[in-house]
Amino acid sequence: MWNKGRKDLLASIKTLHPKSRVIGLSVIIIEVPFITAIYRLPESQVIWAIIGFALILIAAIAAVVMIELRQMNDDPPVSKNEEPRLSHTEVKNYDLGKSIDFYQVIAEGYDERNSSYLKMAHRSVIEIVERKINQSGKAHSNILDLGGGTGRLIVEHFFNKEGISWFYLDKCEAMASLFKKNLKNTKLATDVKMGDLVDASELYEERFFDLVIVSFVLTSMEKLPSFNAIVDLLVEDGVLIVADIDHSYTISIPDYSVLVNDETHVLHPKPINPLSLCEDLGKLGMRVISARPVLKDEEDYAFCLEFIGPRALDEKI
Ligand SMILES: C[S@@+](CC[C@H](N)C(=O)[O-])C[C@H]1O[C@@H](n2cnc3c(N)ncnc32)[C@H](O)[C@@H]1O
Repeated sequence: MWNKGRKDLLASIKTLHPKSRVIGLSVIIIEVPFITAIYRLPESQVIWAIIGFALILIAAIAAVVMIELRQMNDDPPVSKNEEPRLSHTEVKNYDLGKSIDFYQVIAEGYDERNSSYLKMAHRSVIEIVERKINQSGKAHSNILDLGGGTGRLIVEHFFNKEGISWFYLDKCEAMASLFKKNLKNTKLATDVKMGDLVDASELYEERFFDLVIVSFVLTSMEKLPSFNAIVDLLVEDGVLIVADIDHSYTISIPDYSVLVNDETHVLHPKPINPLSLCEDLGKLGMRVISARPVLKDEEDYAFCLEFIGPRALDEKI
């Protein structure tokens, strides 16, 4: 237990400012000979030795608190992933044309970093997929997941489901290999492709998919894809799901910062306005049949929109 406590203490010291690290390590180093020496002292001097060491400890703690407080005041605001960007780490910025390089670096540990708010939006995507599969009356459904990521937040829910084929496309190698790793020993029928979602119409057959999912991808793209080409992939009563961070949140917190091995990687996502999406897709005859906002501290954080085509809508009416 003593050793575990020391390990935890050392791990915490490693995250501090270099000056605080020196102070913390010095205290740890002098503590061992101090404890050994204390047994050899005459009883009358032990109390003074303990008081002396306690004073050194108090001075060290006060110095570390002051250094860390000063450091916090100098740091930029907290990022979207709620990891503080420390000024003593290297910062690497990625513009949207390099977003895949960003995902390549942050893929490992991506799922652990996601907030409960993000998971609420994913929950909405899962519910729409489940409802669509159950209500379709079909023995088999084809689902296309564009920019599928690691698969842990959405696809995992369907890993042991039969009667669906999950078509996965992502441009990032690290994300696709995590997806394949997560998929091992599951029953889900999958087709995994590496590629850009703007090429989806060349990679897949038209009017083949019951569902197309575009979840938290548009904010990472330099230019919006042609929705026409995506809509053409859907069967007549097919559903398109678009989920993402709300534009107002992206505008107020424009950095998506992730700390990886003492280096802060920062992507500057594109603001995506859900109303503009409804308008753009509406021009293609698509209509919103469900819209779910996710709020964070009473502000718009993310959204999940469900669209269907005009013919499917006629049947519903
Ligand atoms: C924020 S993650 C979202 C992953 C997953 N869809 C989810 O909702 O958890 C964005 C994913 O989109 C992928 N991506 C970004 N731009 C892409 C593009 N143009 N074509 C294909 N995948 C892309 C990234 O590699 C990454 O895996």
